Amino acid sequence: MGVKLLDLISQNSELKGELVEKFSAVIDSGSFILGPEVELFEKNVADYLHCKYTLGVSSGTDALLLALMALNIGTGDEVLCPGYTFFCTAGCVARLGATPLFVDVNYDDFCISIADLEAKITPKTRAIIGVHLFGQACDCEAILELCRQREIKFIEDCAQSLGARRNGKQSGTFGDIGCFSFYPSKNLGGFGDSGLVCTNDESTYEYMKILRTHGMKRKYFHSYVGGNFRIDALQAALLNIKLKHLDRYIGGRIGNAEFYLEKLAELESLRLITLPKVAAGNKHTWNQFTVKVHASERGKLRQYLLDRGIGCEIYYPLPLNRQECFEKYANNLPVAERLASESLSLPIYPELAANHLSLVVSTIEDFFG
Ligand SMILES: Cc1ncc(COP(=O)(O)O)c(C=O)c1O
Repeated sequence: MGVKLLDLISQNSELKGELVEKFSAVIDSGSFILGPEVELFEKNVADYLHCKYTLGVSSGTDALLLALMALNIGTGDEVLCPGYTFFCTAGCVARLGATPLFVDVNYDDFCISIADLEAKITPKTRAIIGVHLFGQACDCEAILELCRQREIKFIEDCAQSLGARRNGKQSGTFGDIGCFSFYPSKNLGGFGDSGLVCTNDESTYEYMKILRTHGMKRKYFHSYVGGNFRIDALQAALLNIKLKHLDRYIGGRIGNAEFYLEKLAELESLRLITLPKVAAGNKHTWNQFTVKVHASERGKLRQYLLDRGIGCEIYYPLPLNRQECFEKYANNLPVAERLASESLSLPIYPELAANHLSLVVSTIEDFFG
């Protein structure tokens, strides 16, 4: 019996009849890009987030790129972002000719360190990208405070955190713009690439709407240089169906996380493993369940699990400050570098069977003897 790191088939097959019926309706509608399904999806997500404006876009990456473009970030600007995150958080900054300045993260929650963030603000800092890594929000209130004092913009990278709350408020609704991904492995996973931006500011929304379609206000009259950041009707249609189940999916992840936290507690008390921590006030949505194991043991544990058919993954093996393409922005981030050598993510998807969860735990216990 193996345990996959992620099984997309079980979640989607439960909805197959409804999805096929909806796809058939979209095919018959002849409307494949933007259109009514997309508008409905935008409204549904806005209601879910309690946010005024949302726009469906082509991916989480494009959501970030669009957000940065809408804030007119470019050459000469510095954008502070955590060094421990998926590449594109900083890749989008560099693509616009701005400088990504890497900030260290907290060992406990993997999120941006407020102390290091404050220390790295310069007169060139135009924006901070806070990443709600693995499904729990970073310290949004502290970031907002730093931003307010200095007129710095706050972009939230919520690619992994749809549904996460901080002190009751949805992630993505603290800053100027929230950026979401519906990549298949996310808590709300599509059948391909898609994403969404949200904001409570009307003019930012209007600007992003124009930028989403090549900066066109009227057809073939371009006011700005935008891009093709549009979302497909088929993606929106299926996401409309899956969104209704999102809280149940998140509930499944929370249940699985609670199981691991309880069953692996003894290994933690023996200091063989460090379990993920939920910061005060956070509702964690567990897009990933990431443990930490001493660097000398991490690779061995990973191989031990893989050899026994248990999926696991290292998110992320190299922090952004050490990536080849970011050589000119390299700096020292002790915690990010330590996390890159210690982190190991375990299967956590909502449909995991109880015997699979137990097998993951017992195999880790066997490894440590
Ligand atoms: C933290 C983070 N930001 C941004 C993205 C980009 O999203 P997408 O893959 O939809 O472009 C991802 C996706 O993995 C992510 O994990």
